[in-house]
Parts: sequence; C-alpha cells; structure tokens
Amino acid sequence: MEILSHRIDRLAESETLQMAKLSRELRSKGFDIIDLSLGEPDFQTPKHICEAAKQAIDDGFTKYPPVAGFLDLRQAIADKFKRENNLEFNSEQIIVSTGAKQSIANVMMVLLDPGDEVVLPSPYWVSYREIIKLGEGSMAAISSSVDNNFKITAEELEEAITPRTKIFCFSSPCNPTGTVYSQSELEAFAEVLARHPGVFIISDEIYEHISFLGKHESIAQFESLKGRVIVVNGCSKAYAMTGWRVGYIGAPLWIAKACDKMQGQITSGTCSISQRAALTAITSDQSETVKMRNEFQRRRDLVLRMLKDIPGIKANYPEGAFYVFPDVSSLFGKTDGQQIIMNADDLCNYLIYHAHVTLVTGRAFGDENCIRISYAASQERLTEALNRLKEAVAKLH
Ligand SMILES: Cc1ncc(COP(=O)(O)O)c(C=O)c1O
Repeated sequence: MEILSHRIDRLAESETLQMAKLSRELRSKGFDIIDLSLGEPDFQTPKHICEAAKQAIDDGFTKYPPVAGFLDLRQAIADKFKRENNLEFNSEQIIVSTGAKQSIANVMMVLLDPGDEVVLPSPYWVSYREIIKLGEGSMAAISSSVDNNFKITAEELEEAITPRTKIFCFSSPCNPTGTVYSQSELEAFAEVLARHPGVFIISDEIYEHISFLGKHESIAQFESLKGRVIVVNGCSKAYAMTGWRVGYIGAPLWIAKACDKMQGQITSGTCSISQRAALTAITSDQSETVKMRNEFQRRRDLVLRMLKDIPGIKANYPEGAFYVFPDVSSLFGKTDGQQIIMNADDLCNYLIYHAHVTLVTGRAFGDENCIRISYAASQERLTEALNRLKEAVAKLH
C-alpha cells in the first residue's frame, strides 16, 4: 500500500518538466520538436569557468565544503553586492546553496509557521507556490494582466497585506513574464512595506544579468527596509550554469544563520567543485555574460516582431529574463475542426502535436489566459518555431 505524507501529496508536479518530458517522448519517435518550455540558457558555461572547476579537482577540493560556502566565495559575493548593487552585506550574511531554488526554500522554511501568508504578484514562478505549501504557509496572489505589462501597483500590494502576512516574495526580472520593476516602482513598494514592519521581503534577482534596461535595481537599496530584505541570486542564469547548482542569499545575519542550520541538516554545503567554479564566475571578466544578455535581447525582439503577425496572440513587452508571456484568451472557443481549444492547456497541447513546439500553460504560473514562450533557443530555431505557431494558429476558426 502506498501512503505518502500529506506534505508530498499536496505538492504539484512541475508543468515545465512535464512538457519537457513530453518533448523528449515525441522526439524519440522522430518528430522535430522545438522545445521552448525550459527556463534554461541554451549556451554552454564559459570555458574559463569550466577550467576553474577542473583546476579545483586537481587542487583537491573534493572534501565536504563548509555548509554556508567557502569563505572566499562568500566574501566574493559580498563584494559583488557592494560593487554591482551598492548593498552592504558582510561574508557572514551570505549563504551559498544548491541553487537559488534551495536558497528560497531555506528562507521560506526558516520564516514560515503554519498559516503565515506569503504575498506574491501573479503570474509567479511555480516553485514559490509549492515551496510555500511545503512551509505550510498560505499564498495570497495579487493578479496582474498583459494590459499593464504584468505589473502590480503599490496600492494593490498595500491591499494584499494582512496581519498574517510574513513575506512578500517577487522576482524582477520576472519569470514567467520578463517584467522588470523600475527604481521608482520599487520605491513605491518600499514605502508600503515600511508601514508593515512585520513583513520580510524575498527579492529574487536570479535574472539580474538578463535585463535589457541597463542598471539592475534591487528593493534592498531602500533604507526603510534595512534588516528585512533577503536578496536571492545565483550563477544559473548569468553564467549558463544551471547544472552546477550554485545559488546564494544576502540576508540579515539571524536569517543567514538559520538558513545555514537548515541546509546543514538537509544537503550540507553546495558541491565544492561548483563553488570554486562560481568563485571564478563571479570574480572574473563578465564579458561572456554581457554577450549572452545581448543575444537574448536580439531574440526577444525577434520573437515580439513575429508574434505581432499572429492574430489572437497579445504579447507583453518583457524587459528582462528570456520569456514572453502572451495572452491567448481570444483563441479560446476556437477549433481546428477536431479539437476545441478551451484554455491555455488545450492550446499548448494542440501546439505540441500540430506545430511540434513545446510551450508551458500560463496556468502553471497562476494565469490561465496566457502561455509562456522561452526564447532560450537560437534565432534560427525561434524563427522556425514562430512560423509553425503562426501556421497552426491560422488553422483555428
Ligand atoms: C524566478 C526564478 N527563481 C529561481 C530559480 C532557480 O534557479 P536555480 O537554478 O539557481 O535553482 C529560477 C529557475 O528557473 C527562476 O526562474
């Protein structure tokens, strides 16, 4: 008899990974599938970072590393916060984890008690929702739509906060929408949050280096929030290092210490070799990151240009990350003569079988009217994918 815990039973399977699995299955049957479902840069990790990892093996970095990360890496991250974001953290306030995902899970687990609320702008990254469940907290989503480029306002944030709110968590640049909050918009959030001193802020800045607006802005810059912001970041997106699993936080010391304790009982320190590679990634020349960012911007422009030509798809204007999150609700109720498209799930299914393009339903991110298109693919493949989408959508009437 299978009796899983209540905890795991409540957890949803990742829709992104489900779509990737379906892509693999169809590919193994010989179909030319273009997978635009994944949140992963398609570039290889820059060579000098790989070399640093090889050197680390030769230098004997093969033992258990410190749970919170090697001290020189933690110091390099503290220096990065000062240099790039003008934020003051000392090395004790930095905890290196097995990916930003673990960093976020650590923080939620150490702050949430059953019934505590986490306020999230919606659409949101899927894992926030599931991690909140694991922490036995409850989620309060603030919805937004394509018409305001998926931005919530300070007034909406104020309205969502209740005496039970413990955390406000958001990503900018955002997955799945690519939305980037400006400094003045963040300042307006900070003014609201200053009136609610019991609320902690998880600022997920994993897409910091894939922003097309120039200087990245962090909500941690505002004096009124001092001691309450946990900045989450990592190497996955900036350095195409998704497989290396290195994330980190800069946090108030007591939260950093609690996260150290938490991961000390679950994973211990992040892979020693990955940590040495991360040290090189963070401290070396950043030109590879800039090149990747520029290529993402060209792809964003290409995808937006081609989406304009597809009737029924209303695209937002992403200013960062590598996703477009168009509203496709005007296609609902249409049919290709065989199947009626009732919702975004149906459309994604239709597109994988009829266009051989894999996308993710917006439902996974809290918005049933949308689909997520990842443009982490070459311009050639994106052009082919968008042409196929146009053709498949044209068959719907
Ligand atoms: C918004 C957001 N936060 C965090 C992560 C996790 O990144 P990592 O690979 O460092 O765990 C992702 C990955 O897709 C993401 O999109």
